[in-house]
Amino acid sequence: MNIGVLGAGQLGRMLALAGYPLANRFTFLDTTGHPSAGIGEVMVYTDQHHLDDFLAKVDLVTYEFEHLPVALVQAIEEVRPVYPSSEAIRVCQNRAEEKALFDRLGIPTPAYRLVEHADELEAAARELGCPVVAKSVTEGYDGKGQAVIRAPAEAHDAWRSINHPKLIVEAFVDFVREVSIIAVRGRDGEVVFYPMAENLHVDGILRYSLAPMPDLDDSVQQTADGYIRALLDELDYVGVLTLELFQTRDGELLANEMAPRVHNSGHWSMNGAVTSQFENHLRAIQGLPLGDTAARMPTCMVNVIGQEGDPAAILAIGDAHLHRYDKSERPGRKLGHVNLVAPTHGALMEKVRTCAALLPDAAEPRFSFE
Ligand SMILES: Nc1ncnc2c1ncn2[C@@H]1O[C@H](COP(=O)(O)OP(=O)(O)OP(=O)(O)O)[C@@H](O)[C@H]1O
Ligand SMILES: [Mg+2]
Repeated sequence: MNIGVLGAGQLGRMLALAGYPLANRFTFLDTTGHPSAGIGEVMVYTDQHHLDDFLAKVDLVTYEFEHLPVALVQAIEEVRPVYPSSEAIRVCQNRAEEKALFDRLGIPTPAYRLVEHADELEAAARELGCPVVAKSVTEGYDGKGQAVIRAPAEAHDAWRSINHPKLIVEAFVDFVREVSIIAVRGRDGEVVFYPMAENLHVDGILRYSLAPMPDLDDSVQQTADGYIRALLDELDYVGVLTLELFQTRDGELLANEMAPRVHNSGHWSMNGAVTSQFENHLRAIQGLPLGDTAARMPTCMVNVIGQEGDPAAILAIGDAHLHRYDKSERPGRKLGHVNLVAPTHGALMEKVRTCAALLPDAAEPRFSFE
């Protein structure tokens, strides 16, 4: 089976690494001009001719990047099966569509407004009560295209700095922690759920993900499972879907955003779960039985951001697994991640602190359960 992947970054690279044992081959179609997958065959899309070449090579198509022209994905769908569908891309690449779907399915979210003018932004900040977060409805990632507004008077500056025709404005959630739920739906509609992860962001960029959480109520996991199942079924989804949530003081979950793909907060599963999110995505899109999502042991994923640190020192930590993306160093850039595995959460946190000390740009690891 030759799998076509739209997008050619580290997520595609790790999909391919998981697919070789299943005798999959990979052809990537990059639309950014900066492919970094460094594996399989990488084609850079500039015209119809490249697209035809790509389609002639592949049996089915998936993606690792959702900021793609929907019309392009719809055109591909006419020729080859695409999993998840173009409809999932259409909804997930637009925060307004995403929130409307959450509303329709009864999935709670922070209070929000849609605005198309600086004055409307100021009014929304007043109505919702500051602080609020303003975000461009499309194209954001790693906290880009966002601004926190602490007083309505800051709205005009925020509007200029984001520089986008349409924004979503959200009440700033005073969360206890950020969490995510990752689930996989097969072609036959079977759904499996990973244990939820606690995610630590600094400056809008994910730094650490830890799963399973030692203090998570079963009922909270079940609530999240219910939310993501509703999304999967509604979209008739095939593959891995990720839902990012805020957990509030009273234990409630509020949906932040979703990603129609394997996700950074699921990288822990490569070494910490029976079946990784990458393998399970490939199983799902090929109509194969889904693998066990159970965690083997407490696991923490540490993102390597900006500078690589000393890989040999990281590998000297027991049960540490380094995944490098073969990218050049640049401030704020995701260069790789380390998965640390330990029998107890106490032992795990010791390894996490040791690892963080070896990474020059690492943020302080501080989890809600400590
Ligand atoms: N309404 C909010 N209240 C509090 N914090 C928020 C809110 N919205 C966003 N944040 C913070 O900013 C981070 C990034 O926001 P969000 O997930 O919407 O953006 P993104 O750029 O799409 O991120 P990603 O890297 O996940 O694609 C969140 O993980 C959270 O830490
Ligand atoms: Mg996010």
